Order: sequence, then C-alpha cells, then structure tokens
Amino acid sequence: MEKTKKLFIKTYGCQMNVYDSERMSEALGEDGYEETLNPNEADMILLNTCHIREKAAEKVYSELGRFKELKANKPDLKIGVAGCVAQAEGEEIIKRQPLVDLIVGPQSYQNIADLASNAVDGRKQIDIAFPEEDKFSLLKQKRAGQRGPSAFLTVQEGCDKFCAFCVVPYTRGAENSRPVSRVIDEAKHLVESGVKEITLLGQNVNAYHGTGLDGKEWSLAKLIWELEKVDGLARIRFTTSHPNDMTPDLIEAHGTCKKLMPYLHLPVQSGSNKILKRMNRSHNAESYLSLISKIREVRPDILISGDFIVGFPEETDKDFEDTISLIKNIEYGQAFSFKYSTRPGTPAAERDQVSEEVKTARLHKLQDLIKKQQKNIQDKMIGRKVHVLFERKGRFDNQLVGKSEYLHAVNVTDPTISVGELKQVHIDKSNPNSLSGSVSN
Ligand code: SAH
Ligand code: SF4
Ligand code: F3S
Repeated sequence: MEKTKKLFIKTYGCQMNVYDSERMSEALGEDGYEETLNPNEADMILLNTCHIREKAAEKVYSELGRFKELKANKPDLKIGVAGCVAQAEGEEIIKRQPLVDLIVGPQSYQNIADLASNAVDGRKQIDIAFPEEDKFSLLKQKRAGQRGPSAFLTVQEGCDKFCAFCVVPYTRGAENSRPVSRVIDEAKHLVESGVKEITLLGQNVNAYHGTGLDGKEWSLAKLIWELEKVDGLARIRFTTSHPNDMTPDLIEAHGTCKKLMPYLHLPVQSGSNKILKRMNRSHNAESYLSLISKIREVRPDILISGDFIVGFPEETDKDFEDTISLIKNIEYGQAFSFKYSTRPGTPAAERDQVSEEVKTARLHKLQDLIKKQQKNIQDKMIGRKVHVLFERKGRFDNQLVGKSEYLHAVNVTDPTISVGELKQVHIDKSNPNSLSGSVSN
C-alpha cells in the first residue's frame, strides 16, 4: 500500500514496549502510515507509555501538553496513548487531556489500525480489553527493509506474581505464553531479514510455558533449545527473569547451549529477608545467592545483572545494609536501581513510607557500589578476547559499535568490518561505558 500518512511513535518503559511499538508501526504501515522522527509533520502521534513509577506516568501528561499547539494548527492530527498508562488509566487520560483521540491497552494492539481510522470527528476510541487470543498472531509481521543484527521477540506477557510494589500484573494482565511454533516462525523470519541475535522478552520470561511442537507444554529452556537449531541465528538472550522460575533445565542450558549468551538479568530487589517478604517476592536472600552460585557453577564467566528498589516501606538502615552485603557478595556486572515509588492500587502504597532524603542517600550509596563492581568487571576484560556482534556505526570514522557476549558495548576502529558482522576482538581498553579493542583472528 502506498504510504501517504506520517506516524510519530515515542516509546517509554521496557523492551516489551519497544517490541510493541514496532508491531504497531507495522500494523499501521498496512494502513498507509509511514514512520517519521518529526512530530511536527505527523498525521498521527502515538505515545507508548510506561506506568512502572510515578515519574514515568507523569512524563506522558507533560508530553501530551506539548502537542496542544500542534493539534490546534492541525485539527486532523490524531493523538493516541498506548501502553501501560493507557491500560491503567483508560478514559481518565481523556478527562485530564481532552486532545487525546485514542487509548489502546497492550492487549489490544491488533485493533490499532481500526481504532485509528475510527478516531475521526472527535469520536474518541478506547480499547483496553484483555482478549483471549494471541494479539501478535493477528498483527502483521511485515518487515519493510533490512533489520539491524539484533532484535527483540516477545514470547511471554503478563505476570501472576503480584509483588507488593508493582503495577505490571494490572497493566499487562495474567501470564500468557505464545506457542513455540509461532516463536520459531517469527525467529526464522527475523533471521531471513538479517538478524543474528534474538532477545526473548517477557515480563517474566522464564515463567514461559507455551504449547510445544509436540502439543505438550514447553519450558523456556526447551524453547531455547529449539531456537538453537535455527540456521543463521548466532545468539540467544532472554529478559526479564524471576528467581523463582530459574528451573534446573534453564540453569543447565547456560552451561551447554552454545548460542545462549553468558549474561543473566536476574532482579532480586532487596537483600533483606524482611523486606523481600513484605514485597511478596517469595524468595529470600539466601535462595537467591545459592541460585547464582548454581548458575556460576555451570557457567563461571556469566555476567550477572539485577534490579534493586531502595526505600521500600518500612526499610530500615539495617535492611538496606543487608542489600549492600548481598551486592558485595554477588558482584554485579550491571544493575538498575530505583527509589521506591508508590503506585495506586498496589498493596505497598498504603504502608509507612520512607522519606525522600533517606531514599536518595541509599540510592547514591547503592549506585556507587554497583558502579565500582561494574568497572572492576569491565577492567578485567582488558587483554581478553571476546566475540562482538557489530550493531551500528560509531561517532568516529571507520568506528563500529557492537556488543560482546557479556553485553558490554565494544568499539572497534577498522575499515574492513561492517555492521552485522560477528568478530573476535581483543580488548585493549576499558572506558567509562564501553570497551575498545581490535579485531583478532
Ligand atoms: N518482572 C521483572 C521486573 C519488571 S519491572 C521482575 O520481577 O524482576 C522492572 C523493575 O522496575 C523492577 O525489577 C523493579 O526494580 C522496578 N520497579 C517496579 N515497580 C517499582 C516501583 N513501584 N517503584 C520503584 N521501582 C519499581
Ligand atoms: Fe512486577 Fe513482581 Fe511481576 Fe516482576 S514479578 S513484573 S516485579 S509483579
Ligand atoms: Fe513500564 Fe509496562 Fe514495561 S509499566 S516497564 S512499559 S510492562
């Protein structure tokens, strides 16, 4: 179809939103929309939003406010809100910001093109249903051009764990896994369009339990073994996983599956058993530590990454110190850390809150420690050979940037290599946020 209309999409939040935005863009592409990076020339603006912390949700409203003038000058401009804020707040968004024409929740993206074409003459469209079917099977998987060498593939959505701080079970609904055959078909399709590395996505990706090729339920490890057979696919990653779903077959796969990369994002949130209990995490610090040792037994060089929340209600100095000792014990190669943010409708929002000052101080202390560990692990890479998949051009002439198997960004200046190539690289230098090296055969 001829592309006659322009679409501007802005994506917030997690990688699942990045994947969803691509799917929505493809679905709207079927309807004549072409993506633009300039909101001023758009016929439709879509914000794919995140509700995980208060600031993330507030950003959406300030962004919408900025489109007021644009809409006044171009009354046909359609403004849509997708993602987790759309799901959590629904119609409220239009009450607060009447310039919004359509609201679409994460389980209804198969309807995006219809919603967009019906959103005319001030007829607001709202779809935040949780239908039964796999939305992705109804979304077109058309790829206009060549893709970069690394891609996301959502295999699981939703969460049944209900951690006391988290909105995801409400915004993404119950755990739901896509059938293995669909995942494999999509992976093959990605590989045909130039992809060499696939990151399997899910809010709880290791809770995956999709229908297998034999009609039985398959685990994430079984799915990974099936993907390993896909010719041309060089690397497999998965994120985000939950400690309670690190099953023995998945741990084992880290030791034996050649294409599975030695990097594991395994959030623990806190090192205090009291806080973990109040968070409803259903694991404790000791079980997390022993899990990490088991994984390191099968894959000693694996890089561990995590998520932390500081200042969860009733967190004392002693609880926080328990988190610090857990971090010292593990040695993280990477970690994401956040001040606890009260989310409406979640159990922890009603409890005794920690002051902002204390949260800030704890966050700084935790981040300083993580930074040191990160740098330490990075520095230890100097002199080692890693494999780098080159993803894009760097800032300098003949410079390319790629990722090592440990997900470190690696820069190499060499006119003989191109984007999409996988090369062995000798690491020469450790920079603040990357490594540099040279191709070595
Ligand atoms: N499913 C993943 C995490 C998804 S949300 C897991 O269970 O680990 C991503 C991260 O955001 C969480 O790991 C947590 O660290 C953080 N987060 C979630 N809700 C939060 C809140 N209310 N305040 C601060 N951080 C939060
Ligand atoms: Fe949120 Fe917990 Fe589910 Fe992760 S496991 S998405 S933190 S409720
Ligand atoms: Fe945010 Fe929704 Fe992802 S709340 S982190 S966009 S699942």
